[in-house]
Amino acid sequence: MKRVKHLLSVNDLSVKEIEAIFRKTDHLKKPKPLLKNKTLAMLFAKPSTRTRVSFEVAMTQLGGHAIDLDFGDLQVKRGETIADTARVLSRYVDGIMARLFAHKDIIELANNSRVPVINGLTDLLHPCQALADIYTIKKRFRRLKGLKLVYLGDGSNNVTHSLMLICSKLGIDMTVSCPKKYFPDMDIAKQTLENCKKSGCDFKVVTSPKEAAKDADVLYTDSWISMGEEGEKEERIGVFAPYQLDSELVKLAKKSCIVMHCLPAHRGYEIKSEVMDGKKSVIFDQAENRLHTERGILALLLR
Ligand code: CP
Ligand code: NVA
Repeated sequence: MKRVKHLLSVNDLSVKEIEAIFRKTDHLKKPKPLLKNKTLAMLFAKPSTRTRVSFEVAMTQLGGHAIDLDFGDLQVKRGETIADTARVLSRYVDGIMARLFAHKDIIELANNSRVPVINGLTDLLHPCQALADIYTIKKRFRRLKGLKLVYLGDGSNNVTHSLMLICSKLGIDMTVSCPKKYFPDMDIAKQTLENCKKSGCDFKVVTSPKEAAKDADVLYTDSWISMGEEGEKEERIGVFAPYQLDSELVKLAKKSCIVMHCLPAHRGYEIKSEVMDGKKSVIFDQAENRLHTERGILALLLR
């Protein structure tokens, strides 16, 4: 099969390719019909607001079309394999964006697709979110190297992992602050440290949120309970409580710091409303940037 460029992980992209996505994103702020007559299939095994809508709107704005396919409505529900689904869909469409549970399933999808597969979130990774996040940071600080991003909460989730990979690629120092039980995945940590060696930045994991927040340029949090983990709600709320992003933690960061959250947020749990709606929050610009960076990603991968 012809080799196609997939986006399953931030580590599928070189630094130059990430910069090209950001340049394309800027260039397409005024969209052009670059994807006329192209179709994106969007597969969802989990709920989505931002990813679903930003990809569909981006396709429309670029002159193409998106098909929203719920996993439950496809023949996979009746046992057709992911590999066969990919073989068939990729003969119809020009790209596939998928939100799945197991990361191995998106690898299987990509391995059997003739067209680019974009990871719209798996249990392990969320690369499109990380691209929009870094684009947001770059717009705000006009630089990336040497900034300190602090992630508070669940160190073992998809958003944390993709931030670890992208920060380490681009020279942003990152500290993850989480309870021991929720340290990042070992393999992702290994890839992160390898990226750090090349870019010359730092990565660490600490348990104390106060120690982590000190001198941060960016304070970032995400849900304590990711999709699929609802059964662990009680335990997670208890163990993550000390990591709540409140104004006391914000005071420890730099005066110029910004607050980020990929959304959906659970106000009063991982973040207090006073912080989410406060002056330092760029959370809704960050959500808007999903649309802008989706255009950049699609224009580069599907053309
Ligand atoms: N941040 C994000 O991916 O949001 P959705 O789950 O709404 O797509
Ligand atoms: N970690 C969250 C991200 C949602 C966009 C989840 O997987 O539910």
